[in-house]
Amino acid sequence: MSHTKIKRIGVFTSGGDAPGMNAAIRAVVRTASFYQKEVFGIMRGYEGMIEGDIVKLGARSVGNIIQRGGTILKTARSQEFRTPEGRKKAYENLQREGIDALVGIGGDGSFTGLHYLTKEFEIPGVCIPGTIDNDLAGTDYTIGYDTATNTAVEALDKIRDTALSHNRLFFIEVMGRNSGYIAINSGIAGGAAAIIIPEENMTFEELMASLTAGEGSSKKSNLVVVAEGSKIGDANELAKRVAERSSYFDIKVTILGHLQRGGAPSYFDRVLASKMGVAAVEGLLNGQTDVMVGIKSNKIVFNSFETIINHIHEIDNESLRIAKILSI
Ligand code: F6P
Repeated sequence: MSHTKIKRIGVFTSGGDAPGMNAAIRAVVRTASFYQKEVFGIMRGYEGMIEGDIVKLGARSVGNIIQRGGTILKTARSQEFRTPEGRKKAYENLQREGIDALVGIGGDGSFTGLHYLTKEFEIPGVCIPGTIDNDLAGTDYTIGYDTATNTAVEALDKIRDTALSHNRLFFIEVMGRNSGYIAINSGIAGGAAAIIIPEENMTFEELMASLTAGEGSSKKSNLVVVAEGSKIGDANELAKRVAERSSYFDIKVTILGHLQRGGAPSYFDRVLASKMGVAAVEGLLNGQTDVMVGIKSNKIVFNSFETIINHIHEIDNESLRIAKILSI
């Protein structure tokens, strides 16, 4: 079924912000304008939808944002929207504004919210994957991941300078609650001695073995990248345990944290966001609903809610193998 009757598209960002969200908003607004549809920005994700915080947008209102990090629409994680009452309030506000289709930009929680809206109120909706974690199945890349990983690599390079100067071992914690994408690829690119990710069952003993192999071969400094979701302890805990076992290293910890969420999006994220924004609006106008836009082998795809949620975006074994070979 096509939704050629769509007149007013609402766009919002939700969950953790990610560099490139503004480029996606711009692409959605301009594509909607190109097809002579009206566009409304819903502020602060589902929170603003519930409160009726909705503003009219046009092609000119999204000028000068493609290069900016963050999201001009702001973002939030809404508890109230998890309740049927909250969603009803949100839908009533959409109706009041005459919004008859939605584009949500965010991660799995944002897509889940959109899924409920499309099912409970039959309003068409398409999700654009925007999260630095790159943890969504159905797409090779999410918007923001490339920029965040570049930020982590830049940090690793800088820490390496001081690590080398002092012969120190650094534990560097990168974001990724459930996902090791930023860790594995910043670790490979930054030449880490070990990379700890939630997807791999590396034991503490294996970590010790890889560090002392470096000790044996007289490595004087080392970088260990730890994903936030590490199952064998966070960067501080690991540093403490290693210090208890080996007096060889002078150990320091750096937690990169929200630094990774900000900054100008990379060219890759801007182009990805632009392609996905166009695809989301064209998809809606061609009858897509309850789907997430993705990019697979450089081609735009649409995946249903069921094929995305409860599936993990697996890290390929080849990356893990490469990381191990190169860290000897
Ligand atoms: O999902 C993106 C992300 O940055 C995760 O990597 C991190 O665990 C989480 O968000 C942090 O969330 P908040 O900004 O709400 O603390």
